[in-house]
Amino acid sequence: MQILIDTDPGIDDAIALLLALQCPDLDVVGITTVAGNVGLEQATRNAAGLLQLAGRTDIPLHYGAAGPLSGPSRSSAAHGLDGLGGVALPHDRVEAAPDAAQFIVDTVNASPGEVTLVTIGPLTNLALALELDPGLAGKTGGLMMMGGAEGAGNITPSAEFNFWCDPPAAQRVLAAGFPNPIMVGLDATHQAFMSPGVRELLYQIDHQQARFIFQITREYADYYWRTHRQVGAELCDVLAIALLSRPQLVKLVDAHVEISTNGITEGRSVVARTDRFRDLAPNAKVATSDVATREFFEFLLTTLFPDD
Ligand code: BDR
Ligand code: CA
Repeated sequence: MQILIDTDPGIDDAIALLLALQCPDLDVVGITTVAGNVGLEQATRNAAGLLQLAGRTDIPLHYGAAGPLSGPSRSSAAHGLDGLGGVALPHDRVEAAPDAAQFIVDTVNASPGEVTLVTIGPLTNLALALELDPGLAGKTGGLMMMGGAEGAGNITPSAEFNFWCDPPAAQRVLAAGFPNPIMVGLDATHQAFMSPGVRELLYQIDHQQARFIFQITREYADYYWRTHRQVGAELCDVLAIALLSRPQLVKLVDAHVEISTNGITEGRSVVARTDRFRDLAPNAKVATSDVATREFFEFLLTTLFPDD
């Protein structure tokens, strides 16, 4: 499957990218960056460093939006000031081209029906791409999106971080008519919680990427303890990537989803399951909390480190 990943690395983004690059059935045809967890420049530097760590500098990298379509720029405290928990990448040379939105449009149009768009950050770049080419959604192979929640938010009582960063962009994407649109929200990602036991396994693996993931998740785990009194770290973006290769890991339900754009509910994804609210047309398959957690971590570790 050809995928183009839009990202704001980010600790879980970093692991998600490494997993995608290592999955035999995923062909990463490009990476685009967006401001979110950290500013655009840092996000792009991190993405470039990750491509170098993975030995995949052949993959095109384009930077995009430095802020939302409108309104204030927002960032996350979960990933440290540099987005990677203060852990330096082995090389830190930025080689990125501009114009993420145009790159998305060109890549999709070059192979109609083939490229699945994967968003693991705010939806700004994709909304801008839809502005450039209003027929874009129908020419993709599908959409895999980490964002939103049927239940409570993680950044406000209502909103999940990626949707909260740019609610109008998220709404535009949901209304665009993508084929097979999948929304992996917090209900599912709460089940993708990396325990200290999984970190211990990583510690024992003699591999540069295992050491890197062990180190970057230290800051992330500290954050979850400080803010939620939870032991471990939630691998939100990683679950979305895993689902591309292993759809059976999560139960999905058909839903009509709309994003609130103001007030205390700003950024909230209102999820109406269409088996119950039958007069609404489904615009997404939403991941539920029915997640095969053990199989997910097995998949992650055996894909990243097949020999260990
Ligand atoms: C999302 O927000 C970011 O902090 C993570 O990288 C993930 O994409 C989870 O709400
Ligand atoms: Ca992210």
